[in-house]
Amino acid sequence: MSISSTRPLSLPPLRNLLVVGGGGREQALAWALRRCPEVGKIWISPGNAGTVNLQGCDSLEVAEGDHGGLIRECRTHNIDLVVIGPEAPLAAGLADKLRREGTAVFGPGAEGAQLEASKAWAKQLMKEAGVPTADHWTVTSEEEGLAVVQQLRRPLVVKADGLAAGKGVTVADTVDETTAAIHDAFEGRFGSAGEQLVLEERLCGPEVSVFALCDGEQMVLLPPAQDHKRLNDGDHGPNTGGMGAYAPAPLLDQEGLEQVRKLVMEPTLEALRNRGIQYRGVIYAGLMLTKEGPRVIEFNCRFGDPECQTLMPLMGPELARILQACALGRLAEAPPLTSIELCSACVVSAADGYPDAPRKGDPIEISLNVDQSEYQQLQLFHAGTRHTFDGVLETAGGRVLAMVAQATDFDQAFTKAYEGLMQVRYEGMQFRKDIGHQVRGPKLS
Ligand code: AMP
Ligand code: GLY
Repeated sequence: MSISSTRPLSLPPLRNLLVVGGGGREQALAWALRRCPEVGKIWISPGNAGTVNLQGCDSLEVAEGDHGGLIRECRTHNIDLVVIGPEAPLAAGLADKLRREGTAVFGPGAEGAQLEASKAWAKQLMKEAGVPTADHWTVTSEEEGLAVVQQLRRPLVVKADGLAAGKGVTVADTVDETTAAIHDAFEGRFGSAGEQLVLEERLCGPEVSVFALCDGEQMVLLPPAQDHKRLNDGDHGPNTGGMGAYAPAPLLDQEGLEQVRKLVMEPTLEALRNRGIQYRGVIYAGLMLTKEGPRVIEFNCRFGDPECQTLMPLMGPELARILQACALGRLAEAPPLTSIELCSACVVSAADGYPDAPRKGDPIEISLNVDQSEYQQLQLFHAGTRHTFDGVLETAGGRVLAMVAQATDFDQAFTKAYEGLMQVRYEGMQFRKDIGHQVRGPKLS
């Protein structure tokens, strides 16, 4: 890995950073940003039990929804750059408020966050920009929805328009399932997020996640990653936030990635610009690679979780400078983004009852210390964890932690990640045994 740029760095100093959020994604971001030699201190708000022990990183007890509190912390700690992890504060306009205070922010304002916060808005933008995606119908009542189904007489994908914590999509197998999903949504299953629905043609093909770091005009793409959305081995069971990932996903080679840049990412950024939106953050395209070419399944305005935990260990130390340059609209002045040429493997472990009713409060025993030299290229990122008053580590959410490992091939990387996970124990621990089956040799699958 090397920083190949000889360009003089004209960007402002980057000493104090604030990462907003408390998931594994945010811990991975803080962990990676810390590698930039100029960065002095990283604050994370609110963080999780894992960020408490992250060297060079301090947690703040301000919730991601407390915009006033976060603005005050930025002043108190002379924050040079804020990186906002989750979609909710982005959609609620936290980036806009911070920018009005003169703070550099990596993350779109509320308008740009519509890319994720309203599927109908995103679909309209894709249509305008000629971005390949499934045909769709936006409906605002059950009658309208049923009329579409009656006309087409085939199963459709039913999506709540708004943010529904990853639960707003039904991929129906039959017409009856389609009508039932439409009915449920208009009965209030997703609250106000389901007052408008997007009905979509069902596509087929492997899925891959592509991330573009944008400064409003220009972009840098990260290596593609593949997530595993279903709870159980063999891609069975309910949809989850993601049970594991690997990167770089060979599903898209360099040429394929360039095709995605030209067909999807650049036209999307341009369409945002045409709407007067300066999008300074990450565009996450969830793609399906169909026989007819890549199609956008969804856009998100944030990094994927757990794709972020998988990708961050591959990123060069200049990442912090690149996010800063994006935040300032000055990507051309940033050093080129390098990535380590290794395979990264990530396995998520979830709490008992996840995803429907995750149980909290199970004590977690971890018998490895990933900071020791024998655990190089192994990372443990927490997510749904907390310390009790007596200092006991316990489960506190659906996805509990992610074990991530890098090696020269995926077999070794996954072996290492699974060996790491064997040293974690809690009641009801669930994880998939077949993450990366697409890229692992037969002996491991
Ligand atoms: P989302 O909650 O938007 O990430 O969607 C959840 C999952 O639904 C995606 O990862 C896909 O597996 C599936 N999905 C969404 N849209 C479509 C579609 N048009 N055709 C087939 N599957 C889809
Ligand atoms: N891993 C899927 C997501 O972050 O939405």
